[in-house]
Amino acid sequence: MKITKTQHSRITAFDEDSIPFGHLFSDHMLVCDYASEAWQRPEIKPYGSWYMAPSSSVFHYGQAVFEGLKAYRDARDSIFLFRPDENAKRLNRSAERLQMPVLPTEIFMEGLKTLVKLDSDWVPRRFGHSLYIRPFLIATQEELRAKPSKTYRFCVVCSPVGAYYEKPLKVVIEQKYSRAASGGTGYAKAAGNYAGALYPTALAIKEGYDQVVWTDAASHGYVEEAGTMNVFFRLGDTLVTPPASDRILDGVTRKSIIALAEREGIQLEQRLISSDEIAAAHREGRLREVFGCGTAAVVSPISALHGKGLDIRLPDLGRQSYGKCMKEKILDIQYNRAADPFGWRLRVV
Ligand code: COI
Repeated sequence: MKITKTQHSRITAFDEDSIPFGHLFSDHMLVCDYASEAWQRPEIKPYGSWYMAPSSSVFHYGQAVFEGLKAYRDARDSIFLFRPDENAKRLNRSAERLQMPVLPTEIFMEGLKTLVKLDSDWVPRRFGHSLYIRPFLIATQEELRAKPSKTYRFCVVCSPVGAYYEKPLKVVIEQKYSRAASGGTGYAKAAGNYAGALYPTALAIKEGYDQVVWTDAASHGYVEEAGTMNVFFRLGDTLVTPPASDRILDGVTRKSIIALAEREGIQLEQRLISSDEIAAAHREGRLREVFGCGTAAVVSPISALHGKGLDIRLPDLGRQSYGKCMKEKILDIQYNRAADPFGWRLRVV
């Protein structure tokens, strides 16, 4: 791997007291191009812009997929990634769905490790803060015919971050728009999935909500995801989450919560859950808690659920909350504060 270090570090701009999500970028980035049907030599170089022709196919036909993961610093200044192999695999599942070339896992893993090591001063020191890592893959061929690009760029940028959401979320159950449909790209981390979510989310924000809860495109009766997160409902003492499918992102935090809940002996069901069932559970006093989860947000409590005849407020369960318990357990593993029985941590420094 070729490494060109910056002559002008911007580390003095990094103030851990003020790190709004995804605004500041670390000194270096990884770039690896695909051309002539082969991945070229990866390169780490100073973070910065590059020229792209206006005819580059990503601007027109949207071949763009991405990932999100974080680097965590422990009390002894070691730095860890959390389940990066899962991101490497999912990037390639996404790439395949968008007819993009598969990236060799070594380029992803070695690239990330080398980049985070080089920018290790950018990994925040405070518990709960981390270095958000954003790998992405885009089509770069200058071509206006709607067909797969022949050239691509894989790039990784890093941003020191704190909380994604500062407070519990008020959400509305979406009844008109859809994030994904059967046979579509919902399971892929395709940039277009996020673009299509912006308008319905803006409408929900105008109505006073923070996010929408996505429902199935066919009936709008079954809950699928919450904003950019997977979603869990606690009915009595059972956690219920929609099963990963071709419409639902197979979230790394989601699958970690499922594994941790099973280990803790918490009853967990991966099954369809309808808004009618949620309404009935609420009427019967069995809907105790709802939370979203994702890499950026970790676990985010949902305090109000509206729409489809529902107007539900959910009190903070404090120490009784499964969401809080899952968040603590995941953070403890990520920050090397607890044993790692599943082998999820990868030490880079
Ligand atoms: C993540 O949670 O890492 C995501 O990719 C969601 C994004 C909107 C920040």
